[in-house]
Amino acid sequence: MGMVRVILNGKEVEAFDGETILSLARRYGIEIPTLCYYEGFANGSCRICVVEVNGRLMLHV
Ligand code: FES
Repeated sequence: MGMVRVILNGKEVEAFDGETILSLARRYGIEIPTLCYYEGFANGSCRICVVEVNGRLMLHV
């Protein structure tokens, strides 16, 4: 599995290729609250997990 370097909360970190932001954040100890997310499944209805990516609001991507 490949790795990619990304900026997470202003800090450069390594993510697994294809890893979600939610998974990455949790690995680095950053809590993103969720209500309707279950491992491998999300219906996107609660919007509590919205994060900003390059100025755009996104859900557990
Ligand atoms: S946890 Fe509900 S939309 Fe992400």
